[in-house]
Formats: sequence, structure tokens, C-alpha cells
Amino acid sequence: MRASTAGLAVALSLMAPGYAFVQPSSFVGNRAQLSAVRSSAGMQMVTKEELLEAREALVKLIDSTNCAPIMVRLAWHDSGTYNKDIPVSEWPRCGGANGSIRFEPEINHGANAGLVNGLKLLEPIHKKHPNVGWADLLQLASATAVEVAGGPKIDMRYGRKTVESPEGCADEGYLPAAAAPFPDGSPEPQGHLRKVFYRMGFDDRGIVALSGAHTLGRAYPERSGFGKDSTKYTDGSTVIRGDGKPGIGRKGGQSWTYKWLSFDNSYFSIIPETDEELLKLETDNALFLDEAMRPIALEYKKDQDKFFDDYAKAHKQLAELGSVFEPEGGIAI
Ligand code: HEM
Repeated sequence: MRASTAGLAVALSLMAPGYAFVQPSSFVGNRAQLSAVRSSAGMQMVTKEELLEAREALVKLIDSTNCAPIMVRLAWHDSGTYNKDIPVSEWPRCGGANGSIRFEPEINHGANAGLVNGLKLLEPIHKKHPNVGWADLLQLASATAVEVAGGPKIDMRYGRKTVESPEGCADEGYLPAAAAPFPDGSPEPQGHLRKVFYRMGFDDRGIVALSGAHTLGRAYPERSGFGKDSTKYTDGSTVIRGDGKPGIGRKGGQSWTYKWLSFDNSYFSIIPETDEELLKLETDNALFLDEAMRPIALEYKKDQDKFFDDYAKAHKQLAELGSVFEPEGGIAI
């Protein structure tokens, strides 16, 4: 395909309703050509105002559909493919928060089972705010979800360059496994967690803080293969929003916490407890078994403010892995 028709095909696919799930033609062009395509499609560099409008739409979406957990997981699975040993100058080969998760084959990776449902929820917002690129939209949705659920405000910035074709997808196998046998041969979950998160540039404190995101959400047997079909905390019979309002979203699955639509530090009190109705993955238990991680987990159990501070820092780091910003310093909102 000649460059001009390829560019047009990309421009059309950027505007097409099923855009996230179709494979656009292979556009091989440089940054200037891509900017030209974006501007011929009526798209420009995102502004603070547009980001704020998209944020407002996300607040409504999250509040009305109770989708905070899947938004957090979706953004983390986009950014968690980052490999610090590949320079960001080789973007998007370094992986990270670049929006590649919306394309096949990445969305079909085993670890991403069910996340297509999160993309479907975001599609109308992307259609309405096309200048907010997918790399930004995923991270904006996650940071907004944490805040809507009562968690800390995260010092986010936007303007990320977005992967525009499936060629930018990450290979399978970068995200952590939840139970043995671990694919990297680690005999214990803590060894596996360290290999995966150190590769992204985190330390033990980052691992423990980020694991606290399991204060939100559930595991579903038909997605990850973990968790129960339903529990008394996921069948709709108990209030699980932090603000006390009713609402659950889709019923079923098994949560880590009682109020799994509330972002708080309860994950750290609950993991060492024995409540058969609640989920504990091997990688969750590991935080309390490992000599170096246990004191951090106990600190977060005692002190929610400290957890929120560390979580907000680690979340920001996660949201910027492998990101290239335009303008260079990003746009704060
Ligand atoms: C430490 C290693 C981790 C492992 C092994 C792990 C594993 C899992 C698994 C198996 C599920 C269930 C998925 C399903 O059945 O739909 C899940 C859900 C979830 N994970 Fe993790 N995870 C890890 C780290 C993280 C991190 C770093 C975050 C975010 C910062 C996160 C956020 C979530 C959320 C919010 C859900 C709930 C999703 C929903 O309810 O739809 N996880 N995780």
C-alpha cells in the first residue's frame, strides 16, 4: 500500500467505531507523517481542557457502572509490559503505558482475559474525545478510578504517545503469574514478583504498595481461573461501595476485601485473616511471608496514610513506564 493510502486507512480506522478491536492496515511512517494523519483526521495534540472533559465522563462512567477495578487492572496490564533494559528511545519495543493492549494479539494474551470488557466501556469516551490518545485514556481511567473509589489523588501527567498499530504490541509473558509453577522457574512467589517488578524498575516497597490495588475488585474463574464463582461479598447482598451506596456492577467472582469498591488499606489487614469467602493468591500471601516485604505490609496495615502516599507514588511510576510525552514534560490536570 502506498504511504498516502496507508495514512488514509489509519485515519479512517482511528475514527471507526470498532477501532480498538480491528487491526488497522500497517502504517509505516515517521512521527511527522503520523502527526499529518492525526491532523487530517481532525485530531490534534491533546489539551488540558479535553483531558478534564474526558475525566468528567470517566467519573460518571465509573460511578454509574462500578467499573473502577477493571479500569485499574486494564491500565496496569498496558504498562506492566515494560522492560527497563530496553531504552525508551526504542519505543514501543520497551513496552509500557502506550495503549498497545487494545490490539490483538496483546488483548488476547492469557493474562488479559476479560479486559476487552474494560476497553468496550471506554470506547464511547474515546470516540467523543479522540484527541485523548488510548495510552492516556487508559491511565486517566485508572487514576480516576482510584480517586472515585476513595483512594489517593495521583500526580498524573498526560500527552503520552500512543501505539497506533498491532506491530507495537508487547510479547506475551511479561505480567506476573499468581501461582506456581512460575514461568521464570522461581521456586517461590516472592522471587517471581521480584523478577517481574524489578524488570520494571520497582523495589520491594513498590511491589507491596502496588499489590494493595487488590483492595479493589475480584477474580473470576472464567477469566483468570482464580477465585470462586460467587461469594457473599460479590452476590449483591452486601454494600461494597465505600460511600455506602448500593451497586455492584456484574455479580460474581471472589474479592480480596469485603468492600471491594472502596480503595483503602483493608487488603493488608485481611490477607493474613482466614475468611474462606475472600481471595488470597500465592502472590498476596507472599507479601506477609517474605522477610523484607512483611514489615512494609504491616506498616500499611497500621497506617493508611502511609499506604496512600506510597501507593500514589508507585502508581504514578507505573503509569509512566516506557511513556514518551508530547509536550516533553507532559500535561498536568
Ligand atoms: C503482584 C502481582 C499480581 C498478580 C499475580 C495479580 C493477579 C491478579 C489476578 C489473577 C486477578 C483476577 C483477574 C480476573 O479473574 O479477572 C487480578 C485482578 C486485579 N488486579 Fe492484580 N495482580 C497483581 C498485581 C496487580 C497490580 C500491580 C495492580 C494495580 C496496580 C492490580 C490490580 C488488579 C485489580 C484492580 C484487579 C481486579 C479486576 C476486576 O475486578 O475486574 N494487580 N490480579
